[in-house]
Amino acid sequence: MNDAGMGEFIPVATVSGFPESRKLCLEIDDRFIVLVHVDGKFYCLDDVCTHDGGPLGEGELEGKCLVCPRHGAKFDVTNGEAVLMPATEATASHEVRVVGDSILVRIAE
Ligand code: FES
Repeated sequence: MNDAGMGEFIPVATVSGFPESRKLCLEIDDRFIVLVHVDGKFYCLDDVCTHDGGPLGEGELEGKCLVCPRHGAKFDVTNGEAVLMPATEATASHEVRVVGDSILVRIAE
């Protein structure tokens, strides 16, 4: 894979400090993101609902979906797809990598 032009993986949390079903809101390079731990895997989305900018990180985690606290849209944490109205567009999904105890995120363009 050619990584040219893409951002670096940035360590954001540790596996040992991040229990299952937990969420973590972060700001990286002026971008608000939310990291979640679901079924033993970590996923990262923009902390922004595509309906009207709601803070997804403040919403509930339902299985593999984050529910927007404002009007209830649901986003699949594995790919950012909007799976329930009123949102229809995906929110950005960021690549997550685990190295040892470190959780690293690469912010999408
Ligand atoms: S802002 Fe998220 S559903 Fe409206």
